[in-house]
Amino acid sequence: MFNTRATSRVLPELCKASRSSPLISPQCRHLSDSSGSPAPKDRGRQVWIRAFGIGLVGGLGAAIFQSFTQAHAEAPEPTSHKTKKEISTYKEDVRDQLSSQHLQVKRSWENPGVYAWGSNTGRVIAPDSDEGFIKTPRRIPFFDGVLLRDLKLDRNFGAAITERGDLLQWGTAYSNDSTQPTPTLKGKDLVSLALSRDRIIALSSDGQVYSVPVSKESQETGPKPGEDTWIPFWSVPASISYRLLRTKNPQWGEKVSAISGGLDHVLLMTSGGRLFSAAASGERFPSKGQLGIPGLTWNTRPAGPYDQPHEVVTLRGFDIVGIAAGDYHSLVLDKDGRIFTFGDNSLGQLGFDYNSEATVIDTPSLLPIQRLYQGSNMTPKATGVSAGGSNSFITVDATPVAGQSDGNAPQRGLGRITADTFSCGQGIWGGLGNGRWTHIQGTPTKIKALSGLFEWDETTNRIVPIRLARISVGSTHASATMDNVTRISSNAKTSASDTNYGADVLWWGGNEFYQLGTGKRNNLSSPGYIAPLDIDADREKGRREEHRFQVTPGKCVRVNGRNVNLEQRVECGRFVSAVYSGV
Ligand SMILES: *[C@@H]1O[C@H](CO)[C@@H](O)[C@H](O)[C@H]1NC(C)=O
Ligand SMILES: *[C@@H]1O[C@H](CO)[C@@H](O)[C@H](O)[C@H]1NC(C)=O
Ligand SMILES: *[C@@H]1O[C@H](CO)[C@@H](O)[C@H](O)[C@H]1NC(C)=O
Repeated sequence: MFNTRATSRVLPELCKASRSSPLISPQCRHLSDSSGSPAPKDRGRQVWIRAFGIGLVGGLGAAIFQSFTQAHAEAPEPTSHKTKKEISTYKEDVRDQLSSQHLQVKRSWENPGVYAWGSNTGRVIAPDSDEGFIKTPRRIPFFDGVLLRDLKLDRNFGAAITERGDLLQWGTAYSNDSTQPTPTLKGKDLVSLALSRDRIIALSSDGQVYSVPVSKESQETGPKPGEDTWIPFWSVPASISYRLLRTKNPQWGEKVSAISGGLDHVLLMTSGGRLFSAAASGERFPSKGQLGIPGLTWNTRPAGPYDQPHEVVTLRGFDIVGIAAGDYHSLVLDKDGRIFTFGDNSLGQLGFDYNSEATVIDTPSLLPIQRLYQGSNMTPKATGVSAGGSNSFITVDATPVAGQSDGNAPQRGLGRITADTFSCGQGIWGGLGNGRWTHIQGTPTKIKALSGLFEWDETTNRIVPIRLARISVGSTHASATMDNVTRISSNAKTSASDTNYGADVLWWGGNEFYQLGTGKRNNLSSPGYIAPLDIDADREKGRREEHRFQVTPGKCVRVNGRNVNLEQRVECGRFVSAVYSGV
């Protein structure tokens, strides 16, 4: 779980305001899909527009186009016998030829849906196929044209929230008879999901937390709570069995704003910056300290429901802004950039060195991130936490401060923030991403490929650090979406060489079920790129060399005759991966 923030610096203001909201913004509906105003760099390209000659027809190769435009930089404006539509079709053809990245952005808008790959033994990736694994990205036909608020995958079950807020489920752990996603919990306006070993935890827009059994049979035979109807004082049993996880003593206006789940537990963060934890599985009560409540076990639990949320009172007073749960451990980030961890540390996943006397820590413990910068003149502030399986990832903004050792020498780069990413936990599948296969890694190690990156931002004329937009962690593998400068506003008015491009995505870790999407089976201990999802579209354009997959950041686009704020998101689960069209 990562704090969402705008990833594109060229997004129109109106759209930007609605980026973090899972709902369709009202403003979005008034915007057309070509609303992006040209970025400043277009001015330098006016010559390309003027160079756009009359005799050219679509489908010419990039090289010809370039030599033509260079030779005829003063060519006349397109004349009236070319319609606007022809011109814009022509420009799009040129752009598709010029850039795989441009084509990827376009395909993501024209053809929204879900691509998935990895283990298929639970029929999550290819619900109607007997194949044991799916080696490269493949569409799940049910989702063609379907936009989702959230998607979470386990090896044996999948769960998604439709654009209207209903829960969809599939996979053998849901039912062996269903061959495609089926609506289960409906009408609750759900916004996000967390998966435990046998239940789905779902958060609604009004802060209710639902705990739904994965299996269809338990949904049908388990106790069904009464639900209010439109007739006052009249309630009827819900259509499926579920439980509500209610936090005690909410302050006025406070509601649960984010959830993150492990195999047996779930963390709940409130809009008031408080942290709660609860049992999330019907099979096992959390027993590795991952609830953060010292001394709490099945035997010592208080009266009331076994899955009642407990406030993590030792963190009261810290303003919690980020949560992340691995299989048996928890990470929490506060507003001042402090990180607290608790739960299983048997592989170093809490960021503390392994200690055979204390493999479990049930009290939230402050991670000393200053130590990671010892001996440098950098002051670190954590900006994000994420976790999955037995791994943890933290992102840090490090700012240089004037040091004494330098004397009076001028210090270069003072005040320039460096964005770094660290990992800890299990490394035998390469999941640390630091190039090593360490079995147990306590002290967080820097992931070089995701640290200290900078780029030039043309809109502000400044060097900016490249942070991570998002990181998704499965049980043995992970993926990071970079917060590169992106461009998604080429349109009929900008030049034919003004191509769109999305954000880079890197993958690493375990690959025994082809979950990295490389098409090969070898584990990767350093982050790497994969090929575009729609590789056939690329090949149709005659491209032979491999390009890299990029995701399209959020933008208001037209889908099925409506304007929606759409972005592609990556999801890594237990031995499976997916990319979906998120709203
Ligand atoms: C589906 O079949 C598998 C294998 O026979 C079994 O393990 C699993 O529990 C079944 N799923 C359900 C929901 O009954
Ligand atoms: C994103 O940044 C990385 C690191 O500087 C760079 O290699 C990559 O080309 C950038 N991607 C885009 C789309 O600009
Ligand atoms: C991936 O890592 C696992 C765990 O170390 C190992 O068993 C497996 O053989 C590795 N796969 C390959 C192809 O090296």
